[in-house]
Amino acid sequence: MNDKTTVLAIDQGTTSTRSILFDRDAEELASSRREFAQHYPDHGWVEHDADEIWRDTLATARETIEQGGGAGSIAALGITNQRETIVVWDRATGAPIHRAIVWQDRRTAPMCVRMRQEGHEDLVRQRTGLLLDPYFSATKLAWILDNVPGARRDAEAGKLAFGTIDSFLLWRLTGGRVHATDVTNASRTLLFDIHRQVWDDDLLRLFDIPPALLPQVRSNSEIYGETDPALFGRAIPVAGMAGDQQAALVGQACFRPGMAKATYGTGCFVLLNTGEAAVQSANRMLTTIGYRIGNRTVYALEGAIFVAGAAIKWLRDGLHLITHASQTDDLATRIPHSHGVYMVPGFVGLGAPHWDPEARGLICGLTLDATAAHIARAALESVAYQTYDLMAAMARDGGGAVTTLRVDGGMAANDWFCQFLADILQARVERPRHLETTATGAAYLAGLATGVWTDLDDVAARWARGRVFDAAMDATQRETMLKGWQQAVRRTLTSTF
Ligand code: G3P
Repeated sequence: MNDKTTVLAIDQGTTSTRSILFDRDAEELASSRREFAQHYPDHGWVEHDADEIWRDTLATARETIEQGGGAGSIAALGITNQRETIVVWDRATGAPIHRAIVWQDRRTAPMCVRMRQEGHEDLVRQRTGLLLDPYFSATKLAWILDNVPGARRDAEAGKLAFGTIDSFLLWRLTGGRVHATDVTNASRTLLFDIHRQVWDDDLLRLFDIPPALLPQVRSNSEIYGETDPALFGRAIPVAGMAGDQQAALVGQACFRPGMAKATYGTGCFVLLNTGEAAVQSANRMLTTIGYRIGNRTVYALEGAIFVAGAAIKWLRDGLHLITHASQTDDLATRIPHSHGVYMVPGFVGLGAPHWDPEARGLICGLTLDATAAHIARAALESVAYQTYDLMAAMARDGGGAVTTLRVDGGMAANDWFCQFLADILQARVERPRHLETTATGAAYLAGLATGVWTDLDDVAARWARGRVFDAAMDATQRETMLKGWQQAVRRTLTSTF
């Protein structure tokens, strides 16, 4: 057992960066969080400033370490991150050559359509478990190589490095000594064979990506390198990395096949543990690596909804209906029923199971007595309905009907939402005592590699139930509401498969 007893987790999300220090009981000792700028340079484009992300990472980590009593007790550091978002940087200077292109960015939709028409989707599906959608990294990387002057030439000459946010932060934290990623982040790029667990030559050729750009791929729990001693006063081993949804799977201790979690952040991502079998979906779900610890790889079926908390943020910042997300709970309970008002939050297209990048948002069923409460309630309900669509597709894929769903993330704090979710899913919704499961998962991965925790049983023993929500809605009412939702979705779709 390690005599150092705390673990620092860096959770670099889509809208904020935070650092949390955990003790051996996985209790939070200190934390710091910063929201950062979203750049929308064109219709459907979303970018982040990777240097700003780095500055926030460093600042929040330093604040957390200081609040927690200094770096002396820290056994390891774990990184978890918004997935698919890419950075390309110069190996000599460490400077990004373009702003990071974010997972929500739709600029490469035409390229995906063309590649689908050319018949490449089957190969992509078999090797990566993903689909041809602008959500994933490869087309974003191709876009940078084709649009930043000199980028392709420099990439071929080995002067540039590519990475998802985990790689970029690892590079900076280790003072440019380590260029690596982990299997979960690699499995979101469209370039990685999730079965053989290597970068795939056929896919690199298909997307025209020079191999010299790529990071080395490692497991989720091992020592990747040490932080530059100048950053935190001493070198700290970086010992855990995982995409944020996979880290939440670990944080929620979903270690047995059949266990599922839903994380409600900017989007919502449901991951169902399928054990050592990579289950291929017949219903446009994704197959992805859940985690690899040592030589054991666990796969997951994933349903990805692009807009969950982002719909609530839009109520606040776009419509000015609320000033704080927590007000939606109060607004939703002010009316007994949604009265046929539906919102389909297709702001950046629709993800699973529709995968329609050109779909756009819709509010329908409005009558003159509709109020802000109806819109807020429709926004909350839309997230539950979308979760239902994912769970239904997973059940059709042979995952069986999930009877218990573990939830986390911001919206999981809303009691009304959790109850409605249980009603619509007709399943038990379990909320842990701590909702920061993503950061906890990253801490566990780092602590497992450095002897803070012994094994996954040790981790599972720390999962603490907060509150349970059981289905209580009348079956006819549920059917009617689901039918209304499905009609609303059909009105937004521009393509069907
Ligand atoms: O795949 C995108 C996902 O990793 C983003 O997560 O929590 O920033 O919405 P979040």
